[in-house]
Amino acid sequence: MTHSTGARLAGKTAIVTGGAKGIGKHYSLALAAAGARVMIADIADGKDVAAEIAAQHGADAATSFVSDVSDEDSVKALTAETMARFGKIDILINNAAVYSTLKPRAYNEWDIETWDKVMAVNVRGPYLMVRHVAPHMVKAGSGKIINIGSGTVYKGVPRMLPYVLSKGAMLAFTRSLSRELGAHGIAVNTLTPGFILSDTGLENSQHVEEERIPVRNSRAFKRDAYPEDLLGALIFLCSSDSDFVTGQSLVVDGGSANN
Ligand SMILES: NC(=O)c1ccc[n+]([C@@H]2O[C@H](COP(=O)([O-])OP(=O)(O)OC[C@H]3O[C@@H](n4cnc5c(N)ncnc54)[C@H](O)[C@@H]3O)[C@@H](O)[C@H]2O)c1
Repeated sequence: MTHSTGARLAGKTAIVTGGAKGIGKHYSLALAAAGARVMIADIADGKDVAAEIAAQHGADAATSFVSDVSDEDSVKALTAETMARFGKIDILINNAAVYSTLKPRAYNEWDIETWDKVMAVNVRGPYLMVRHVAPHMVKAGSGKIINIGSGTVYKGVPRMLPYVLSKGAMLAFTRSLSRELGAHGIAVNTLTPGFILSDTGLENSQHVEEERIPVRNSRAFKRDAYPEDLLGALIFLCSSDSDFVTGQSLVVDGGSANN
C-alpha cells in the first residue's frame, strides 16, 4: 500500500530521534500512517521499524540511521543522510532522551557522570538537532519542531532531579526558539506527556511501581496512559491544523498536572 495523497502529512518528511523504541517507535509509525516519510534516528538500530513501515506504506516511506543526539558529528551525519535520502526536512521530533534507563534516587545521590549524561542527551541533544536541521527549514521557509517535554516538570516530581530539570529546559528551549524561528515560518512546540506505560518504561519496574497508581489517582481521567494516547496531539502539532500555534506546551496527561 502506498500513501494516499489525502493523508494529513502527505509529502512531508520527518526525523524522529529515539524513534526506534519506546514511545518514539509509536511516533515513527503514526507519522508514516499520516503520510510522512520518516527518518528513524536512534542509538538503537531502527531498521526493523523502518522495514515495518516500508511493508505497509512503500519502500520510500521510512529509513533509519544509528546516531547519537549528544554527539555533534553524529547529528551532522544524520542530517546529511536525511537530506540525501528525502531532499528536505519538514518535521523534527526531539524525542530521544535518557529516561527509562534512569533509576530514581534522592537529590544528593546523583553522581556527576549520570547528571552530565542526562543533560548531554536530553538538553544538548535537542539543541544539536535544531542547530543542524533548522537551517534547512529556514531555507524552505517552513517547518515544525516538536520538543518532547514531561508532565514531571509541572508536578515537580521528586527523585528524578536531573531528568525533571532537563525536561524543564525543553519548555524554555521551545519558548526562546519559537521567537527566533517564527520569522522563518517555523513552529516550535513542546508535546508534554504524562506518565506513559511504554514497553521500554515497563522494563524499568521501579518507575512503574513508584508512579503507576499515584499518577492514575491524580488524573481527571482515572486510567493508565499508553503511547497511543499521544498520537493525535503529535499529528496535530505536525500538521497545518496547528499553523498558528507556536511556543506552547501541549500537556497530554489525562488532566493530572495543574499547569
Ligand atoms: N514514558 C513516559 O512516561 C514519559 C513521560 C513523559 C515524557 N517522556 C519522554 O518521552 C520520550 C520517550 O520516552 P520513552 O518512555 O519511550 O523512553 P525511552 O527511554 O524508552 O526512549 C528513549 C529513546 O531514545 C533513544 N536514545 C537514548 N539516548 C539516545 C541518544 N544519545 N541518541 C539517540 N537516541 C537515544 C533510546 O534508544 C530510546 O529509543 C523521552 O523524551 C521521555 O523523556 C516519557
